[in-house]
Amino acid sequence: MARNIREAMIQRLEGLEGAGVTHVPKGRKLPDTPPVAQPHSVVPQVGTAEGGCATRESPTDQRAAALAEVEREVSACTRCTELARARTQTVFGVGNPCARLVFCGEAPGADEDRIGQPFVGRAGQLLTDIIVKGMKMRREDVYILNILRCRPPGNRNPLPAEAAACREFLDRQLEIIQPDYICCLGSVAAQNLLDTTESIGRLRGCVHDYRGIPVVCTYHPAYLLRNPSVKRSVWEDIQMLMAEMERKSGRRRAEDGVVPVKD
Ligand code: URA
Repeated sequence: MARNIREAMIQRLEGLEGAGVTHVPKGRKLPDTPPVAQPHSVVPQVGTAEGGCATRESPTDQRAAALAEVEREVSACTRCTELARARTQTVFGVGNPCARLVFCGEAPGADEDRIGQPFVGRAGQLLTDIIVKGMKMRREDVYILNILRCRPPGNRNPLPAEAAACREFLDRQLEIIQPDYICCLGSVAAQNLLDTTESIGRLRGCVHDYRGIPVVCTYHPAYLLRNPSVKRSVWEDIQMLMAEMERKSGRRRAEDGVVPVKD
């Protein structure tokens, strides 16, 4: 009997290890699925009359519902008048509602306007490579959004008034997702989010702060496509981001009193 239990436990731990789990909580139930994203505080409750009491929905369901509500508003929004008139559709954002990491780009391009999702063109493929091959994560583990939700004509830079008009939606998305980190892709995203005129060259290489969320900036994947010489710099930025994320995971594991699956 004891032997069967021991073997079953070993099998279970090996399965979790194979799925990428490196630690399990001390004295608690083993997780059924790997903790891809770790919600770390409470989001506004949805689907309750009072808007505050506990529901049986998971944090992911709650955040997905809250995001869907904002997306409904975005799809009807015309604050950026000229862009709203010309758009095929709004491009809200995509990914894990409980993502630890949010990538923030500039604005939808022609492909994104047609498909309705951010970063689906060539630059998007490069971003996927950075996430999958560089960070060893899945695109669906992170959340991807832009400063703007409508395409500027001819892919021109967003006007300050357009970015201001869309800002409420960006902030609400971030409030719901509560990421541990934001990675700004390119100068337009970084300057708008951080409200600065500093160049991307000066913004990269250190950790900034947006409303308590650490922010790392790097070159836009489209710029990287045109200038392969910045590949090394982008890789350095991504490595810095990964190291920061790992440090934070370590601190959280220590706070939660978790033990390694095996030493
Ligand atoms: N470039 C961006 O900044 N965002 C997109 O969604 C696509 C390309």
